[in-house]
Amino acid sequence: MDTAPARIRLARMSEKRVPQHLIRLNDLSPQQVDDLLELSTRLKRKGTRAELAGRTVGLLFFRGSLRTRASFEAAMVQLGGNTINLTAASDFWDLEVREGAVMDGRAPEHIRDAAAVLSSYVNALAIRPKPAGRSWAEDRKDSEIRSWADHARVPVINMESALWHPLQALADLMTLRETLGDVRGKRLSVVWTHSPTPATPAVVHSLVHGAVRAGMHVRVAHPQGYELDTHVLEEVSTLAKSSGGSFETGLPLIEGVRGSHVVYARSWESLEDYGNPTLAASRRSRQQGWAVDERLMAQGADARLMHAMPVRRNLEVTDEVLDGPRSLIVQQAENRLHSQKALLTHMLRG
Ligand code: CP
Repeated sequence: MDTAPARIRLARMSEKRVPQHLIRLNDLSPQQVDDLLELSTRLKRKGTRAELAGRTVGLLFFRGSLRTRASFEAAMVQLGGNTINLTAASDFWDLEVREGAVMDGRAPEHIRDAAAVLSSYVNALAIRPKPAGRSWAEDRKDSEIRSWADHARVPVINMESALWHPLQALADLMTLRETLGDVRGKRLSVVWTHSPTPATPAVVHSLVHGAVRAGMHVRVAHPQGYELDTHVLEEVSTLAKSSGGSFETGLPLIEGVRGSHVVYARSWESLEDYGNPTLAASRRSRQQGWAVDERLMAQGADARLMHAMPVRRNLEVTDEVLDGPRSLIVQQAENRLHSQKALLTHMLRG
């Protein structure tokens, strides 16, 4: 007689649940980002309880990290959970990403199998893939992290792919809020800086996306040839029309910083020369003036400095600015811990 509700319940229990992944900031709604930032602030102020006791996150690093690895481990420990760390270079082997490939190359295992197996050991997988570095058209697809997300039965968290770094963006938005209060209508300048070891534009992509979505006026200053990814630029420009923010790119150095509340320094590779180290080095060598010092900071409106780090002192930014009262870099790095605790609590509790 009353068997129908039980049958419905059973049917629901047997449904395959699709885990919520975080590949890019857009995987979270604006409301979810707001809620996470509020929780991050509460956790920073009041400390944490062991809300994730018995939970484990697998961390897979296919390239190096200082802040992401340490803050992720600290976050899980402080929440009462655990991490399993796997460093690709020493702990396992190349993984195949191509579907249907005849695996007669270097990789003895497919991501499909690794993801299925690891999903039965851990409650989430956090991954920092290594872009191949041969073609931006290929690397921008973020095939590795997307393959993990396709095949894992637990949430997958992107710890910086070629295209996106959502964890850095959460900490950046938290730092912007702490510094500016309501960020809507405030001015953020992103400044390309000279470095012999530039990263992909992942940090900047996630930052400008999050900041424009939050209603900020964002300007990007960079030399010719350092344009951000075309599709990301289109997305951000469209977003600006509905968010009340604005977005300008390709500005010269001083003009890009004038009147800013926050200057965000970052070095990224030329996507035009991507995969060609000789051309890339030659182009970089012509951009020596692109650095942040007190004179540049003075162009802002009592501007503060942010940088995701690692930062090359006295090449990208002078000691005077990094160690002076305008610098937010340590606070920004600390906020990786608090914002990741909020995210992990949101993703893994109950
Ligand atoms: N900002 C950042 O992701 O730092 P790491 O590369 O040290 O993790």
